[in-house]
Amino acid sequence: MMTLRKFQTAAALLTVSLMGSAWAATTAPEPSTEEFVPTVGQSGKDVIWVPTPQSLVDKMLDMAGLTAEDKLVDLGSGDGRTVITAAKRGAMARGIEYNPDMVALSRSAARREGVSDRAVFEQADIFESDFSEATVVTLFLLPNLNLRLKPILLDMAPGTRVVSNSFTMGDWDPDETGEAEGCSSYCIAYKWVVPAKVEGSWKLPDGELQLTQKYQKVEGNLLRGSEKVAITDGRLEGANIRFKVGDDEYTAKVTGKQMQGKINGQGEWSASQVG
Ligand SMILES: C[S@@+](CC[C@H](N)C(=O)[O-])C[C@H]1O[C@@H](n2cnc3c(N)ncnc32)[C@H](O)[C@@H]1O
Repeated sequence: MMTLRKFQTAAALLTVSLMGSAWAATTAPEPSTEEFVPTVGQSGKDVIWVPTPQSLVDKMLDMAGLTAEDKLVDLGSGDGRTVITAAKRGAMARGIEYNPDMVALSRSAARREGVSDRAVFEQADIFESDFSEATVVTLFLLPNLNLRLKPILLDMAPGTRVVSNSFTMGDWDPDETGEAEGCSSYCIAYKWVVPAKVEGSWKLPDGELQLTQKYQKVEGNLLRGSEKVAITDGRLEGANIRFKVGDDEYTAKVTGKQMQGKINGQGEWSASQVG
């Protein structure tokens, strides 16, 4: 038998899908949750609820460089504080949270803060949700959950920023580490920028670039005739690649199987992926 809660959740999800976007605000009726008071440490599907201190929420959004053009998703959104803070900064923000009471609490808080048009909450399992449209992903989960999410995050658009409270991503080194001031527990955040996929052979007008990649770190060789020169300082920040060939610094923007950019900030160069 369908319970009232199941019916309301289904109605909310249907409204969202009919509106064509998971970021669209839902007008589904809200359950009355004024009396629900969350408890730090309460159980959750894969991890308990512990809120990110507000000073670290602010720091995480600063680290992400969040703008009004961004679409943020908070995976396991708890009481909604990260989503609401992002919406107050003008971004479209979406929380995915398994606990329906926390979802209802978050929706009430968003209404109270006047951002329910930009702060949307869904009752769902993060591992069964599509959040590929997000340009910023925030999370405060656990190391093993971050590892489960890592391949999904790495498949997101290059340049997507991922910011995690306290927990890392295994052998994917963070691009930045930050610490909130005036914070006593869970005060460190890590940021990654999803790198473009560049591993393989790239044809240049006068040679070939052979690249290997470990996340944002790039190694390889430039072949010109019988000459083979190892590249150094190879790195990706989203779709932007840079490396050195001898003293020359190559920078380029990667767009699918093309890269185009400058050598030492001047001469143009380009390459096409051939393998
Ligand atoms: C440590 S709390 C973080 C809450 C919030 N992101 C914050 O930073 O304040 C983790 C949250 O994830 C939720 N959660 C656990 N497993 C989940 C799952 N599989 N899908 C969705 N939410 C989940 C919990 O209910 C809890 O609210």
